Amino acid sequence: MDIKLVPTTAFEDQKPGTSGLRKKTKIFMETPNYLENFIQAIFNTINVKGKTLVLGGDGRFYNKEALQIILKMAIANEAQEIKIGQNGLFSTPAVSVEIRKFQADGGIILSASHNPGGIKGDFGIKFNTANGGPAPESVTNAIFEQTKKLTFYKIAQMSDIDLSYEGVQFFGDTKITVINPVSDYADLMEILFDFEAIRSLFQKGFKLRYDALNAVTGPYAKEIFEERLGAFTGTVVHGEPKEDFGGLHPDPNLTYAKELVDIMYAPDAPDMGAASDGDGDRNMVLGSSFFVNPSDSIAILAANYELVKGYKQGLRGVARSMATSRALDTVADKKGFAHYETPTGWKFFGSLLDAGKITLCGEESFGAGSSHIREKDGLWSILYWLNILAKTGKSIEEVVREHWRTYGRHFYTRHDYEGIETERAKGLMDNLKRRLASLPGMQLSDYEITWADDFAYTDPITREMTLDQGIRVFLKDNSRIIYRLSGTGTQGATLRVYIEKYESDVSKQSQDTQKALKDLIKIAGDIAGISAFTGMTAPTVIT
Ligand code: G1P
Ligand code: ZN
Repeated sequence: MDIKLVPTTAFEDQKPGTSGLRKKTKIFMETPNYLENFIQAIFNTINVKGKTLVLGGDGRFYNKEALQIILKMAIANEAQEIKIGQNGLFSTPAVSVEIRKFQADGGIILSASHNPGGIKGDFGIKFNTANGGPAPESVTNAIFEQTKKLTFYKIAQMSDIDLSYEGVQFFGDTKITVINPVSDYADLMEILFDFEAIRSLFQKGFKLRYDALNAVTGPYAKEIFEERLGAFTGTVVHGEPKEDFGGLHPDPNLTYAKELVDIMYAPDAPDMGAASDGDGDRNMVLGSSFFVNPSDSIAILAANYELVKGYKQGLRGVARSMATSRALDTVADKKGFAHYETPTGWKFFGSLLDAGKITLCGEESFGAGSSHIREKDGLWSILYWLNILAKTGKSIEEVVREHWRTYGRHFYTRHDYEGIETERAKGLMDNLKRRLASLPGMQLSDYEITWADDFAYTDPITREMTLDQGIRVFLKDNSRIIYRLSGTGTQGATLRVYIEKYESDVSKQSQDTQKALKDLIKIAGDIAGISAFTGMTAPTVIT
């Protein structure tokens, strides 16, 4: 094996964000050694010699080239084995499944999740640890330190490896095993959910439309819904993973999954509409003319655990990210589960899951998951919903409305202001931080601020501290406004404003969300001076 040591210069900007290192595709492609340096930094941090890693990507532009580089570097660095999905494909949840199944030392996922792909889009590298989950900050910080002092990387001089068929190939001391990316994942779903019941739901004519948005989940969804569960052929649309996602923006929300939303709001809508993002960890669930808010979704999954094969023994506890509505807490309190509040990002759930403190967890950003893996899981969430529908015989809207009647409704919205100049966005946050102490007592129309803080988190297991996780403003009626800057963007800054208000009065639960939150939305703008700082009079995305 011809191994080359390539001299390189360290980069200053390879600090992993909310989920891995995410940049414009062009930066990875056109900055010499940019990808190689980051991979070598991971390998140095974990001391990759003799280790087994799972590798794959969501199929987006530059995946193929990047995978070959990573394989050649793994060979040069004497990894013991790389398990890679056929044609280099793996969804994020499936990588987590494989790391755990094979007790691998970790995994690398090439994806920028829900960000657009293509030469003008985004690319990213995520590193997961042996528990199958995103590397915790201690590891990402160590990787970052490595990136700042690299002087060379190692790569094998060889031709590209054929990833088109399953099987084992040896290069030097390294074994490259190409595996089916779908079957282990689908098998696990069959253990967790009542496929028999879901199959008979489909037999009775239940119509699901699943939009894979030309991203990685197409093959998973076809195998699970159409093959194993007998849904009619054509249930899965945009089911071929494409390098540019066929021009679609693979973010399953009301703005970007527009075709699905239009179909679900048309008169002859299917019973259920669902979608996942680029790498398959997010989910959106819709009933006919009915949108399920992701914060409600995780609360509803938790409330109905008794109906689901893999969870009916009980939930150990539940967790949500701070910005997610407190609907989940309400369920936990009623059912007597422990509940936890973590910063944004899946990595914070890992230690709670590993310690057996929680079984289910979720985020407002279309993410839900459980102890079955250490990532959020789009198809898992959709199957959980199907399981509930199959067992109750109710429609999605009926399930949600009944939930609100029982637990009250947490009206909730997120307003995103994208593409703000970074300095202006920082200015807005700094200004809020400076004024934190003076906010309590402030009267804004009918609302009074009772408390405001800058959310900090101490992991109850590892005691790791994470500061600066968003500004929380609490109002007298227990409504909440949260401000934070996105950690996944690649251009400028995105301000996220999260607004929540609880309503127990059933007669008021059917209001339109934006109307119900109208006053609070205005107050949120006033408190932070959003238009003054950003120059924007309206958000770019409303969820
Ligand atoms: C966003 C979401 C967050 C999620 C992350 C990765 O991060 O808000 O909940 O975990 O994507 O999917 P943000 O851009 O807000 O930092
Ligand atoms: Zn994702």
